[in-house]
Amino acid sequence: MKPNSNYLISPEFTKLHKFSPKLKVGILASGDGSNFLNLINLANNFELDIDIKILISNNSNAGCIKKAIDNNIPFSIISDKEFKNRDLFEQEIISKLNNNEIELVVLAGWMKIISGGFVKSFKNRIINIHPSVLPSFKGKNAIKDSLKEGVHLTGCSVHFVETEVDSGKLIIQAVLPIMANDNEDSLIKKIHLLEHKILPYGISEAGYLIRNETKDKNQKNLSPHS
Ligand code: GRF
Repeated sequence: MKPNSNYLISPEFTKLHKFSPKLKVGILASGDGSNFLNLINLANNFELDIDIKILISNNSNAGCIKKAIDNNIPFSIISDKEFKNRDLFEQEIISKLNNNEIELVVLAGWMKIISGGFVKSFKNRIINIHPSVLPSFKGKNAIKDSLKEGVHLTGCSVHFVETEVDSGKLIIQAVLPIMANDNEDSLIKKIHLLEHKILPYGISEAGYLIRNETKDKNQKNLSPHS
């Protein structure tokens, strides 16, 4: 199924950045993991220079886990239910990410709200994919809410994660029309296809910024005048 020939993606990045060594990515997902699988395929086809070091899921029944197993991606199931509080739950996730020397954390259908402490631990190094044209329709029911509201355009956004839910600097967005015969299912399908197009660019742009920042820091540390 085509998303719709009338979609628009902005900015129109022309190429994915090259990373050598490959960008070390950690994926957090709670659901089916179609975005995760798309990233696995792009990495396997050498189209996106990422090394998916780990998948973390809070849901042992999630489809993303089967995709990790099928594709030999290391995974960890970390359920919030097993921890006394959110801090301890997140500490476990953070230490898994740090143990894997993750440079960029990608929330690809992660259904847990991330605390300020978590955001700080990975400052400017967490991105999220959301099924709406932000800042419209934040939250868990973005597609349902946009249908209820009767808007004529929908889409998806990749953004850096800040403490406030579905906020933070936007990296790339896609927009498509809602047709008279669309419903929640048809829009989920169309939006997913667009997510698969834009998330790789979101990762590539975020990775580029992260690598440059690291390079600047290293250069400053080497400079005798700094
Ligand atoms: C996507 O629609 C994403 O925007 C939202 O969760 C969904 C995840 O889909 N945050 P999938 O698990 O990658 O198929």
